[in-house]
Amino acid sequence: MTTHSTTNESHTAADRVFAPPAADDVGADRWLIDDAATYERMHAESVADPATFYGTIAKELHWFNDWDSVVEFESPDAVWFKGATTNLCQNCVDRHVADGFGDEIGLIWEGEPVGTNGPEVRALSYAELQKDISRFANALKTAGVRESDVVTIYMGMVPELAIACLACARIGAAHSVIFGGFAAHSIVDRGKDASSIVIVTCDGAWRRGSIVPLKANVDEAVAVLDGAVDKVICLKRTNNDIGWDDSRDIWWHVAVEAEPDECPCAELDSEATAFLLYTSGSTGKPKGIKHTVGGYMVHTYLTSKYVFNMIPGLDEPNRDAPLPNGQVYWCTADIGWITGHSYIVYGPMANRVPTLMYEGAPNFPEADRFWDIVERHKVTQFYTAPTAIRAFMKWGDEHVTKHDLSSLQVLGSVGEPINPEAWMWYRTHIGRGVCPIVDTWWQTETGGQMLTTLPGVHTTKPGSCGLPFFGVDAAICEDDGTEIPEGSGLLTIRKPWPSMLRGIYGDRDRFIETYWNTFDVDGAVSEGRPSPYYLAGDGAQRDADGYFWITGRSDDVINVSGHRMGTAEVESSLVAHPAVVEAAVVGMPHEIKGTGIAAFVTLSPESAPADKHAVEALKKALRTHVGDEIGAIAKPDLIRFTDALPKTRSGKIMRRLLRDIAAGRETSQDTTTLEDKSVLEKLRGED
Ligand code: WT7
Repeated sequence: MTTHSTTNESHTAADRVFAPPAADDVGADRWLIDDAATYERMHAESVADPATFYGTIAKELHWFNDWDSVVEFESPDAVWFKGATTNLCQNCVDRHVADGFGDEIGLIWEGEPVGTNGPEVRALSYAELQKDISRFANALKTAGVRESDVVTIYMGMVPELAIACLACARIGAAHSVIFGGFAAHSIVDRGKDASSIVIVTCDGAWRRGSIVPLKANVDEAVAVLDGAVDKVICLKRTNNDIGWDDSRDIWWHVAVEAEPDECPCAELDSEATAFLLYTSGSTGKPKGIKHTVGGYMVHTYLTSKYVFNMIPGLDEPNRDAPLPNGQVYWCTADIGWITGHSYIVYGPMANRVPTLMYEGAPNFPEADRFWDIVERHKVTQFYTAPTAIRAFMKWGDEHVTKHDLSSLQVLGSVGEPINPEAWMWYRTHIGRGVCPIVDTWWQTETGGQMLTTLPGVHTTKPGSCGLPFFGVDAAICEDDGTEIPEGSGLLTIRKPWPSMLRGIYGDRDRFIETYWNTFDVDGAVSEGRPSPYYLAGDGAQRDADGYFWITGRSDDVINVSGHRMGTAEVESSLVAHPAVVEAAVVGMPHEIKGTGIAAFVTLSPESAPADKHAVEALKKALRTHVGDEIGAIAKPDLIRFTDALPKTRSGKIMRRLLRDIAAGRETSQDTTTLEDKSVLEKLRGED
């Protein structure tokens, strides 16, 4: 299983396996780890003695003060690197400058618009980043931001977004980044929940040639927040007309102009809050997942290093050629999601490997944009989501074959299970039939990757996310915590890991209820104590080789294009529309998105559409309504009007039945408890 043999392609999908290639085969200098024995030894040590393992790793980073202990855990509370002080920005930027790499490129950015001279590209060295971040950090202070305040960031994918995050990290403010595709409503909810008084935004963001009106959305939110927001710092990017309030709004360029380009990195307690990131759960209200400085830094650094085989740049970067000549790492996520936090900003930057940021859509101006970028920037590690891969499959191979992708060494996948067909296409067409694919399972809550293969080490199996990363004690268990060594059940993590969530902001009960209240280990749950085991919320299977296969969420959360969406959020948005009385939202199979959104809706009698035309108009209005309230990713793919929703006699909506109907399957749900049998036939009606 561990030899670097030639590819072993068998004929059935189920037992297809691929041995890891030799570093040479993909053009890499070396694999940081290239044998399974080393992985197994390191994994065993990391789980048996985390203090020694993580203590050693953490020493590769900069700390102002040493720790008293590496980890202390009393469920659900973990303390990593107790008593130590450090700073994420120091480790991602200043450390490299101090080590003499100030001239090396840390961040490469490419804008979406393509002019006659090609797209706009910026390559920022660590020294430049240090100055830009310091200036903006000072501007934040001037705007009134103090250590541990929450700064809301709602921007497009511009370098200033990463700079804003790192500036917060520098002064010990917690950032709360809101995905630029979300609507004004989400700025209100999150801003209020976190009592954030400063918002950083842009006039607009480029997306597929159009402008997303970010500042207008902020203005709308600020009006609702009614005086709670003191300052809005706005970056000029798209030059669109925007509203302006002199007493509150300030341009980014004006704010930084007056500031010195030096600002000390705050010495932060390892357990100080690094950021909040809101994510959907089973209720209508998103949860503010809290991550802290030290542990998050160590885990994102460590995973980036080994999962992507990150090897820092050459000692002598070539300043005449604008781009680096060592590795160039590209993650296509938006920084508004955890993937962007951990694997665009903090993980790669802590490793001193240049991280590439692309502003716009994968098919702008043409469907080959990603491969054009890979070719021009000589990207070595590429990390994307299955939904993007499926879209490229559909757009046609000619967009890929016209580009030279020979720089690629490692391919990554994240966000949802990757179907074997897309996996094979990714390997064959993007990976030249040789690059290893790391399918990384993790979550907003885990902060960093948890299950994966390592590129030079493991045999890969299309559709499986592989094995536990170092320090991760993953298992599949029954409700009482009994392990299911082979077979399916609930995915759990049984020991604390450094980048684990430290809570849901302002809601301790929900934190315990959601994650620590399922596995009744040693009678913990039945006695009212938090379980020592973490509930991931995913179902999974483990095969005879110990490989994990994620089967999907076990709660009312669906993965739409690799982005988590709570069905309850979409439902509450639908019922907020005057025509809607009740709504039930479920996931359904979708060719590109993986999971699409299906909504079953009952209407008030006076809103009942008179004819087919009115039905279509109302569906369109509801989709627009949800898009305006939450964001385009929440728009239902299918809406079906119904007189009644299928409910049990006790009044529970029969969701499994709806899932089957949305998927066009015969239902496996027992319908004997269905209150009104005639509902079933009507639900199956045409769209
Ligand atoms: C959920 C977390 C992790 C960053 C992006 C999503 C699903 C994630 C995989 C994978 C199968 C995956 C899970 C998980 N998921 N990665 N490699 N294979 N499923 O972060 O929004 O917090 O969503 O995404 O269902 O629970 P998120």
